[in-house]
Amino acid sequence: MEIQLTGRRALVTGANSGIGRAIAVALGAAGARVGINYLVDPQAAQQVAGAIGAQGGAALPLLADVSDAAQVSRMFGEVEQAWGGIDILVNNAGIDGERAPGWAGTPEAWRRVLEVNLIGAYLCAREALRRMVPQRSGVILNITSVHERIPWSGYSAYTASKAGLGMLTQTLAQEAAPHGVRVLALAPGAVQTAINQAVWSDPAQRADLERKIPLGRLGQPEEIARMATVLVSDAAAYVTGTTVVVDGGMALYPAFMHGG
Ligand code: BGC
Repeated sequence: MEIQLTGRRALVTGANSGIGRAIAVALGAAGARVGINYLVDPQAAQQVAGAIGAQGGAALPLLADVSDAAQVSRMFGEVEQAWGGIDILVNNAGIDGERAPGWAGTPEAWRRVLEVNLIGAYLCAREALRRMVPQRSGVILNITSVHERIPWSGYSAYTASKAGLGMLTQTLAQEAAPHGVRVLALAPGAVQTAINQAVWSDPAQRADLERKIPLGRLGQPEEIARMATVLVSDAAAYVTGTTVVVDGGMALYPAFMHGG
């Protein structure tokens, strides 16, 4: 089955690198016009836009800090001005923060993770829903993590933000469903991107990580992007309010593959 998004207007946050970039390119390849949100590295955002243009698609780089309501509102205004509205929002922008047990980190660092990962997603969803609800169509896909469910020592802000995003997804889905709008989440496992490069570029740490994945390997951004493309398309028209886990089995308590 070929997924078609021709004519759809999409916005992907944090689209200048990693999973966000792969999703933006995949949506563009399926025919969507894609807003490439970024906060740092404008050149990378231009490259993503260029890659989509080279496939014959349309892309628009958009600078905004998703945790800032005024910047988010301006960004949605730019999309509207360019394309007249929005059909697909992918809330992908996220940071994992500094590794520290809950008693050792700073409140400022903890708060920043929540502001980007959770409040940022809420602010973007709010702007999107204000447009999607009246037009009675649209999809919001929130990129969470296996750490929506799996605790992770040293990353309490990250896990709390992703669990919160999971529940935000369900509640917004309940609110939006009567208006013909879907809200759902995709939870990646360990995907090989810059966010976890320190782990996968070290052989011992990489082997330890791979032992936590029943399929025995890290995921690639394109593997997440493929599922994201399906979920925002009409192929998933009956899917809302749930999290689709794409993790090579990481959430399956792999320690129980042996013994017990
Ligand atoms: C994190 C990665 C990590 C993966 C699996 C993701 O949410 O961003 O750094 O490798 O979860 O633990």
